[in-house]
Amino acid sequence: MKRCVTLFLTVILSLAAVPFASADGPDGPPSFPIFDDTPTDAWYYADLLYAYHSGLINGKSETRFAPDDPLTYAEAVKLAACMRQLYDGVSFTSRKDAGVWYEPYVNYCKAYGIIAADYPWNQSATRAGYMEIFAAALPDEDLAPINEIPDGAIPDLGGLSASTVSAICKLYRAGIVQGTGDDHACAPYSSIRRCEVTAILSRMMEPEKRIRFTMTAPEHRIETIGGVTYVDGILIANKTYSLPADYAPGGLTAECQAALDALSAGAAADGLSIYPISTYRSYDYQAGLYERYAARDGYAEADRYSARPGHSEHQTGLAVDVNSLDYDFAYTPEGIWLAAHCAEYGFILRYPEGKEAVTGYRYEPWHIRYLGTETAQKVKDSGLTLEEYLGITSVYAD
Ligand code: DAL
Ligand code: ZN
Repeated sequence: MKRCVTLFLTVILSLAAVPFASADGPDGPPSFPIFDDTPTDAWYYADLLYAYHSGLINGKSETRFAPDDPLTYAEAVKLAACMRQLYDGVSFTSRKDAGVWYEPYVNYCKAYGIIAADYPWNQSATRAGYMEIFAAALPDEDLAPINEIPDGAIPDLGGLSASTVSAICKLYRAGIVQGTGDDHACAPYSSIRRCEVTAILSRMMEPEKRIRFTMTAPEHRIETIGGVTYVDGILIANKTYSLPADYAPGGLTAECQAALDALSAGAAADGLSIYPISTYRSYDYQAGLYERYAARDGYAEADRYSARPGHSEHQTGLAVDVNSLDYDFAYTPEGIWLAAHCAEYGFILRYPEGKEAVTGYRYEPWHIRYLGTETAQKVKDSGLTLEEYLGITSVYAD
């Protein structure tokens, strides 16, 4: 790849605008701005020179780069197509008969599997959106990881699809982006300025410009009080952490009950009926339930959906099953409302779909866990399961 780029750049630079060649020579920056609105002392100037002279990015006009304008999806897809072509050492032939200017780039990106669907082309690209496109612009081996970024270390990826999270992580790990602030937040829903993009283009095409940094998964405090485990102050009952047989609040905690009542009232205000079908379960009750399921389906299968005694969240008085133990509940108006609104009342959907390896249990669209509104909202925003959020496992010791 490097050879192609170097060759291409040599050709480009030798054909480049005279002002560049007549300035301080090919090794030094020109002493004048290449656009009226990009001063030579701007932080992005070297990257702009690179991106401009390698044919990746143009001005909005001959004299105006518009460094602070947001990047649009149309521009993002054009850049992705140009990067792939620069990488492959071919030059782009734009069909003049095309409808809108970006159509050839969209078609090219679709043909190369860089994008699968359409974006709102004339709107500002979100950071998540352009990262999704850029992460597919080059082959995986050219975006190999150089940074240790554990899953869950980027703090604000909640609500994004798994494929978007994976694209963002790929660019962090490859040193193309590093997020903002001390915690390297991604700000996935913000836009990105054209000047920032120049730096990203340089890093995409020139591996030596990539940023080396490490992120650590946040540290968590695990305490055991009277045989009950608290992680960062949150009571945990799962396959790894059990409750003593005599831990018996006897019902939902007052706070959880009040939150459940408020949730039901909120649903009722929207014309929906959400009601509990299983709340507190004692150690002995859970023992009987688990044995009945195991007798019906075998222990291995029962372990996928029913907790062994001492391991059920229902014994905490902080968990509730609502409406129906049927997977189709997720698609009912009540199931959809619950997923969207339960955090506002302090609950999370505790066993999300596709996370059995993490939570230890199959998808349960009906099982909610009370955490309080602040924590529930944070867990929801993180996009993580409670196990991932707290950095813990859920596996039986035996
Ligand atoms: N169904 C959940 C995992 C329980 O038995 O607590
Ligand atoms: Zn449950």
